[in-house]
Amino acid sequence: MGIDYADLCARLGSDLVAQSQMREIEALGRSAMLAYAEAPDVEAGARAATARLAQVVPAAQLKPFWPKLAELRTGLLTNHELQNLLHGLRGGFIPPSPSNDAVRNPAVLPTGRNLFALDPYRVPTPAAMQRGESLATELLARLRTDQGGWPESIAIVLWGTDNLKSDCEGVAQVLALIGARPVVDELGNIADVTLRPLSELGRPRIDVVVTVSGIFRDLLGNQMRLIDRAAYLAATADEPPEWNFVRAHVLAQVAEQRISLEEAAIRVFTNAPGSYGANVNFLVESGTWENDEQLSDAFLSRKSFVRTADGQWREARHLLEGALRHVQATFQNIDSFEVGLTDIDNYYENLGGVAKSVERLRGQAPPVLVADAINTPGASRVASIETMLRLETRAKLLNPKWHEAMLAHGFAGVREIEARVGHTYGWSATANAVEGWVYDEIAATYALDDTMRERMAALNPSATAGVVRRLLEAAGRGFWAADEATLNRLQEIYQDLEDRLEGISEERSVR
Ligand code: BEZ
Ligand code: MG
Repeated sequence: MGIDYADLCARLGSDLVAQSQMREIEALGRSAMLAYAEAPDVEAGARAATARLAQVVPAAQLKPFWPKLAELRTGLLTNHELQNLLHGLRGGFIPPSPSNDAVRNPAVLPTGRNLFALDPYRVPTPAAMQRGESLATELLARLRTDQGGWPESIAIVLWGTDNLKSDCEGVAQVLALIGARPVVDELGNIADVTLRPLSELGRPRIDVVVTVSGIFRDLLGNQMRLIDRAAYLAATADEPPEWNFVRAHVLAQVAEQRISLEEAAIRVFTNAPGSYGANVNFLVESGTWENDEQLSDAFLSRKSFVRTADGQWREARHLLEGALRHVQATFQNIDSFEVGLTDIDNYYENLGGVAKSVERLRGQAPPVLVADAINTPGASRVASIETMLRLETRAKLLNPKWHEAMLAHGFAGVREIEARVGHTYGWSATANAVEGWVYDEIAATYALDDTMRERMAALNPSATAGVVRRLLEAAGRGFWAADEATLNRLQEIYQDLEDRLEGISEERSVR
């Protein structure tokens, strides 16, 4: 069409012509891919898709594309997961495969092979650095708009699998915020980082406090060292503090806490070796916490391990607290569409957990932001947790297509619904990020609607009671301002479901 794609993406934000061109391109592409997918075989698919695109792309230009697409199609249609699992359990050989996201690297297909992670000395790759850089720029632009100035320090959660799937885009983003970049040695390995000069950076160095998962710690030790080294270089750079927030904060920590500069400059924290997770989710799920401090305590005590210069692990909660005291925003990438904020409890456990800890240390709740790492070009990838939760709730929990599909799975499906309600509640507990209408509609859809409730109770009575209990708890803890009548009705329903559950167990014991 004679349009430069990068240029088009750059113009999307404000340019109506660009927006309509993008819509046209998307519609054309979609129609071509539908024609391709619906054809009986790949040759017919190529012909059909070529015809759909005939107006804008010459057939010859499309030609190299079809073999690649055919390979992708075969990869997606081939499933070796169970077969290879069984083969492996019998001691058989399973062919290797890179680990990545199928969108980023289609060579991961077919799945069901033996993942090799990556070469720890080759990540972040140049492409990941570029994407990390633009993610950092978007995050800073968003925070400047919201806060009216540079954010001095951002707490960032990094996970292992996410960084494996993206060639360490998250690591790249952290380096970009500090204003550092990897140094490639004579063998092409990345074993060090260097600071970009402030004149080239054109903005202050942003401080970061990175809490990495246990899986990240196990897989990406080299990357932990790269980040810590970048922070150390920044902390010791002879630069004005208003242009180098890392140094400004590290010097403040040295003075406040009477610690060495080396200790104060530590910016990567994780679990003790052999331990995983922040346990905030277990407290929330069991309902056994009495005040917010217990949630932040869990996070701070689980995540406060650092590796010292001599390679030993050491508990250093005071260092984590000292660094978090300067944090003005919290952030995590959502790396794919596969798993979202309320699908698993680990997002609120970690991102909510760090937000709750910052709130305790600063006396003020920080904004919680996330980025959709894979997203429509041009659309801003950075969003507030409130916005993303709204989207998730609409797309999944409150979407009839979603819950009908879940119910088709019977017992397990109802358990999935209960889990989403629990994870949503976890975002109330850790970040106060759930709007009242979400609970109103969860109650209306799953508890107060007699037909739906009975369908669920017939499949999984205990998970159904769990949904109602969670709603009552949300009201009890002040996350949801439900009216008296609704609460009374929910109490009745809960009692009834509980009685029935007890009835079932009595029946069992009689038998
Ligand atoms: C990780 O890969 O680090 C991870 C994955 C899922 C939940 C938490 C952490
Ligand atoms: Mg993920």
